[in-house]
Amino acid sequence: MGIKALGYVIIETAQPDKWNEFLTEVAGVMRASDAADGAALYRIDDAPFRFRVETSDREWFQAAGYEVADAAALDALAEAIGAAGCPVTPLTAEEASLRAVADGFRTSDPAGNGLEFFYGRGAAATPFVSPLGVPNFVTGDMGMGHAVFSAPNFDETVAFLRDVVGFRETDMPRFNLMGPDGPSIGFAFMHADNGRHHSIALGEGPVPPSGAVHVMLEYPNLTEVGKAHDRMKALGYVESATLGRHVNDETVGFYVQTPSGFDLEIGCDSLVIDPASWQTTKHEAISVWGHEWAWQKAMKEAVS
Ligand SMILES: [Fe+2]
Repeated sequence: MGIKALGYVIIETAQPDKWNEFLTEVAGVMRASDAADGAALYRIDDAPFRFRVETSDREWFQAAGYEVADAAALDALAEAIGAAGCPVTPLTAEEASLRAVADGFRTSDPAGNGLEFFYGRGAAATPFVSPLGVPNFVTGDMGMGHAVFSAPNFDETVAFLRDVVGFRETDMPRFNLMGPDGPSIGFAFMHADNGRHHSIALGEGPVPPSGAVHVMLEYPNLTEVGKAHDRMKALGYVESATLGRHVNDETVGFYVQTPSGFDLEIGCDSLVIDPASWQTTKHEAISVWGHEWAWQKAMKEAVS
């Protein structure tokens, strides 16, 4: 058993036009033909879609969809998740077709975070072309990027992701986000069976109102990250964290708030690991430099 990579994300929104603007005019993502059920689909490479945006009455990160090798791996995973007491709902034939996958199921982790697992995904019939000239996103066997969730029952949820699903621990730190005297918060950065430092991560705390913390897309270089940063400012989107470099996955980038409230991390130059030989680390800081978070800025302004 093992997880190959992050394949897609599914978002519910009452603002599909805003999401369209955000993805095509800030992120440089390509809009594909709508799904048969009317959902908007967006591409960053030759996968049929990476973002599925459903019109709804709420702002909600419905699921991160992870790929497994084949039908046997999918069945084994469904059985393990069911045995662990988490829900397993097979995709209908129509739902599988809407995702361009052979088969899959949806579930949630012990904190209620939405997950899907699938195998057998086809490729798009046409080449990827960014509407803003982003030459490519870094994907391939490292997948779409990563998704980050939060869990109040942190240890239980980490154990589920590791022991039941099969993600592996890359970096298992505790961070003092409020300064050295503040409480430390657990994080779990976990990899799939590919070179991306983490395909999923979890922070210790309540599930955010939007159902996720952030999604990360990897751009090919700092110029493309900088151009996206200019577009964020020009279109008036909120910068959740300033440009910076992470300690653990070495990504250089910034965070912008999506129309649904969770963030999109726009980064580049991410560390590629060897998943077979990686020894779990326990870093003590999030960032080498930069990454001033909006709440830190607000706290600073409040006391000055
Ligand atoms: Fe991230």
